Amino acid sequence: MEEQAGRWHAVLKESEVPDGDPVPCSIDDVEIAIYRVDDEYFATSNICTHAQALLSDGFLDGHLIECPIHGACFDIRTGKAMTSPAEIDLETFPTRVRGGSIEVLIPARP
Ligand code: FES
Repeated sequence: MEEQAGRWHAVLKESEVPDGDPVPCSIDDVEIAIYRVDDEYFATSNICTHAQALLSDGFLDGHLIECPIHGACFDIRTGKAMTSPAEIDLETFPTRVRGGSIEVLIPARP
């Protein structure tokens, strides 16, 4: 398996992320939202690409997060901007669980 460039960071315990209710966290200067859907974890940038709202304050429906300000929806699996007014996709991050902690892979930045 190809090694992913970057570093894994433990961010939250599994018990801290309820199903369907996003939780914010930050790693260094990266603002991240953690989502749990059917016991699977996803991580995206927590900042809406339209006008900087926090997506962790938004509404999660399945794998779609709806921005609390103007209602743009993003797919948390891919980061794809699904509805206007957002046109730019969200950054997403790989996740894994180790010893009950959710870890997020932050890619090496140039
Ligand atoms: S700030 Fe998110 S849609 Fe406008």
